[in-house]
Amino acid sequence: MFLPLIALWAQTVTAAIHHLLVGTFSTNSIYTLTFDDETYQLTEVANTSTPVGSSWLTLSADKRTLYGTAWDVQPAAFVSYAVEDEGLTLTHQATVLAGGGCTGSAISVLASFDLPHTVYGNLYYRDARCAAVFSVDAGTGALVGGRGIVQNYTYDLPGSAVHGMTWNAVLANIVYSADTGGNAIWTHARDKDTGALRLVGKLVLPVDENGGHCGPRHLAAHRQGYYLYVVCEASSKIMQLWLNMDEFATPNATATGKEWPILRSDDDAADFWADEVLMSASGDVMWASNRAHDSSRQGYVSVFTLSPVDGDVTEHLFLQTTPTSGGFANAIAPSPFDDRVAALTENVTGSVEIWRMADDNKSASVVAHLDLPDGGGCCANVVWYS
Ligand SMILES: *[C@@H]1O[C@H](CO)[C@@H](O)[C@H](O)[C@H]1NC(C)=O
Ligand SMILES: *[C@@H]1O[C@H](CO)[C@@H](O)[C@H](O)[C@H]1NC(C)=O
Ligand SMILES: *[C@@H]1O[C@H](CO)[C@@H](O)[C@H](O)[C@H]1NC(C)=O
Ligand SMILES: *[C@@H]1O[C@H](CO)[C@@H](O)[C@H](O)[C@H]1NC(C)=O
Ligand SMILES: *[C@@H]1O[C@H](CO)[C@@H](O)[C@H](O)[C@H]1NC(C)=O
Repeated sequence: MFLPLIALWAQTVTAAIHHLLVGTFSTNSIYTLTFDDETYQLTEVANTSTPVGSSWLTLSADKRTLYGTAWDVQPAAFVSYAVEDEGLTLTHQATVLAGGGCTGSAISVLASFDLPHTVYGNLYYRDARCAAVFSVDAGTGALVGGRGIVQNYTYDLPGSAVHGMTWNAVLANIVYSADTGGNAIWTHARDKDTGALRLVGKLVLPVDENGGHCGPRHLAAHRQGYYLYVVCEASSKIMQLWLNMDEFATPNATATGKEWPILRSDDDAADFWADEVLMSASGDVMWASNRAHDSSRQGYVSVFTLSPVDGDVTEHLFLQTTPTSGGFANAIAPSPFDDRVAALTENVTGSVEIWRMADDNKSASVVAHLDLPDGGGCCANVVWYS
């Protein structure tokens, strides 16, 4: 009886098995995978049928609830699932309308770390100016629609369409939104009692000498609070913003003028639509990804090191091609256990890969590949459960 206990203890300490949840676009599944960080085995352990496909998934702070966009649903809607058995069991709770009267589709969803555990949803395509703040059931975390919507609000720039949001890493209740269509970053302050957002300001991003826009898609905040990094979908760059130290809000933010292309110098940005920027587990390594419009081309993964003191970029380590264009995805998801490990999704052939940086940090390689061909739905984004 002694040996199994030791084995169990050893497994807990090294935490070699990690769980991942993978969403789909227009097929109705969520896949649960395991990744063994010693053998690099990546395995599908569950295929849960869902009422809708989710182009984006995110977990609640306590990991008991999974929130998603309802990609194909009109009018725009969001969905929630109860999560049990480390993500092996997902139970649909609710599909709720965003309200607000826009014609766009649900595109991004963000959960809160603090009470009240409100959830923030944004739209994309067509008229996408509307956003919703949902309350959740106190017991289950389930989204509550209708009168459970705490707030319907809008973004007011021409073409506003917010594709991603992120919390300030230092101050509670400050959130930034990347408005791709409006070429702007918005700052909102969250009411700590209701979860409703109050507009602090917006920063319209600079347009280059050729009239080129950034088209901010997603953003990542360094843990020290000073820098916000934006992935520019239109110009295929990572743009650096310096946040005012007093309030860390974008009305006072400045584009530092530092930008890093995430394509090769002989590529045309018009052939790409850059996808993702996210911080690693420690917060001092930044992963970014790019995808090509033409499915016969290839996309890119790129990694940067950041100063642990202020979060400035210390080195753009590499730019490496991905096996496919990425389709609608090529979404990179840094792991929560190792700065050097990240998951990559694509929906050209339908797969999830695990990438790992080499020991000298000068490149990365695919250490695991799992095909999930379900007809173009898989794979949208990965959420690391553990
Ligand atoms: C938000 O919109 C929904 C649907 O249109 C509506 O039911 C709800 O009352 C609205 N909530 C607020 C706070 O305006
Ligand atoms: C921040 O911006 C606001 C609005 O533009 C301005 O009133 C305020 O003085 C600025 N604060 C700082 C510290 O620069
Ligand atoms: C490579 O990056 C990792 C993660 O940031 C770091 O711990 C390690 O020291 C780096 N190694 C080298 C050789 O730079
Ligand atoms: C998951 O299950 C659905 C429904 O049975 C099926 O259509 C789909 O092909 C499955 N996905 C994979 C990758 O096997
Ligand atoms: C990837 O997903 C998008 C969005 O649903 C879809 O338009 C596209 O056809 C998919 N890719 C493939 C190769 O099926």
